[in-house]
Amino acid sequence: MSKLGGFGATVMGTGMAIPGRVVTNQDLERMVDTSDQWIVERTGIRTRYVAEEGVLTTDLAEAASREALRNAGVAPEDLDLILVGTNSPDTLFPAVAAKLQGRLGAVRAGAADVQSGCTGSLYAMAMAAGGIASGAFRHVLVVGAEVLSRMIDWTDRNTCVLFGDGAGAVVMGPASCGGGRVEGFSLRADGTKHDLITFMGGLVEHPASEETLAAGMHHVKMKGNDVFKFVNREIPPFIDGFLEEMGLSPEEVAHWVFHQANWRIIDGVLKRMGLPEDRAVVNLDRYGNTSSASILMALHEAVSSGRVSKGDRVLMSSFGAGMTYGALLLQY
Ligand code: UT7
Repeated sequence: MSKLGGFGATVMGTGMAIPGRVVTNQDLERMVDTSDQWIVERTGIRTRYVAEEGVLTTDLAEAASREALRNAGVAPEDLDLILVGTNSPDTLFPAVAAKLQGRLGAVRAGAADVQSGCTGSLYAMAMAAGGIASGAFRHVLVVGAEVLSRMIDWTDRNTCVLFGDGAGAVVMGPASCGGGRVEGFSLRADGTKHDLITFMGGLVEHPASEETLAAGMHHVKMKGNDVFKFVNREIPPFIDGFLEEMGLSPEEVAHWVFHQANWRIIDGVLKRMGLPEDRAVVNLDRYGNTSSASILMALHEAVSSGRVSKGDRVLMSSFGAGMTYGALLLQY
């Protein structure tokens, strides 16, 4: 757990982008052996958005970034660093962040992708916050962007009903800039569970071959129920402990921005904390699981809709492939 000292860090502005094509549960009923009822009851998801042909992760990242920069009142030339959390980069290299830097004309900024499952964007926010608080960086653009639809097996009902494409972005700066001040964060991983969510094909362990293609290794594979159990076991005590270390009770957090993977997971954590449902910011019904974009999209919707008032605390928490997880606390 890290409490921020030094210059502190804050979220100055947020943005998001979704692609144009909506895919409903009814559409999926026509593609795989599933039902709207199963998907809604087991996940809470009703629709998700899928990138049209030719739309890249960098395109969504750019749209979300431009909105976040506008809302923050920061020019691209004033960025010191661009970090993009993504598990579906256009290419393994170059990084999405590097292409984004070029498109934005962020001439003074370094750029790197943070690939750490759905937790990537939360890790990136924590790294940005640490760097800003130390004085090493002044303005950092953090993005979560995914076009996972190109890496999904659309005949596998275990995964294709869950994921959606999208991007969220925040511009971060020193605490003196106002906005949502980062009070602290905690980052964790349990790498012994690395086999729960995987994309194996076409890289070092399994170079692309006819065999990897035949085995469907160029698709996301997930042991969904094992992930579900892992998260339900690990996340509630982790968040409890984090808040305790921050000297706060769960009641003092006004808005819970959880990773938008499954309503049952969010509901379970809230129940465990003894909190009402309306404390959670939920948009997974519309967007599905947008992986590393999810918490940034949810934060953007909460802030831009006026739901978050001055003084409110927002707890962001995510988990994903690795298994990685973490939490980050903001006060507006
Ligand atoms: O962001 C990455 C992190 N990932 C996650 O957070 C995912 C976490 N896991 C989950 O959200 C849930 O485990 C799922 C929604 C993926 C699955 O729900 P579940 O309650 O764990 O179901 P299950 O995997 O235990 O499967 C129950 C049944 C199985 O049938 P049998 O074996 O009982 O006959 C599955 O084959 O549901 C079946 N099933 C489906 N049925 C209709 C699995 N997917 C579907 C489907 N439609 N799409």
